[in-house]
Amino acid sequence: MQAKYLNRATDLAKNLIREVVSEKDIVVDATVGNGNDTLFLCDLVGAEGRVIGFDVQKLALEKTEKRLGERNLLDRVKLINSGHENMKNYIECEVSAIMFNLGYLPGNDHSITTKYETTLKAIMEGIDILKKNGVMTVAIYPGHREGMKEKENLLDFLCTVDQRKVNVLKMEFINQVNNPPLLIAIEKK
Ligand SMILES: C[S@@+](CC[C@H](N)C(=O)[O-])C[C@H]1O[C@@H](n2cnc3c(N)ncnc32)[C@H](O)[C@@H]1O
Repeated sequence: MQAKYLNRATDLAKNLIREVVSEKDIVVDATVGNGNDTLFLCDLVGAEGRVIGFDVQKLALEKTEKRLGERNLLDRVKLINSGHENMKNYIECEVSAIMFNLGYLPGNDHSITTKYETTLKAIMEGIDILKKNGVMTVAIYPGHREGMKEKENLLDFLCTVDQRKVNVLKMEFINQVNNPPLLIAIEKK
């Protein structure tokens, strides 16, 4: 049965992102996939804003491009077929929000999944380019093997990040079975 507010880590992420993103902002979708978060971000930044999206799967980007085209949103998006761990090679400005929705695309090849080594690098680069009071959300899915490794390694690292630089918050469903998703939110000071 669905509850009203606390169903999914991705909904919690969107609620936080809505608070910090305004029209004309530049934001990042670090894992474009089917483009749901890209579309969400496009609505928030408006016609004069920009969404920069990364994915290693060309096919996913092509499908997302089609969805964006059908809604006349292509002008506000730059889709990059590269890993998010390279984001600093492509982004020279500060951004107000970055969304990570980790793991693999449901219904697709499960071996094409995010991996903690590259996710860690991307999170560090993301913290560097976040502007003051900017927010990064990271939805983690420990219900599969690679996702569990990713959760453990990311949490180990995030506990050590300098609290003078960022606030790091962990939100998790503590009464759900089978390793439910969790959300990390990072705010730049
Ligand atoms: C859970 S899906 C993202 C779902 C997406 N946000 C949406 O709204 O449909 C995770 C995505 O991360 C992508 N991915 C895997 N490794 C990546 C990397 N190093 N950099 C960027 N994307 C990556 C996968 O190809 C997959 O499309």
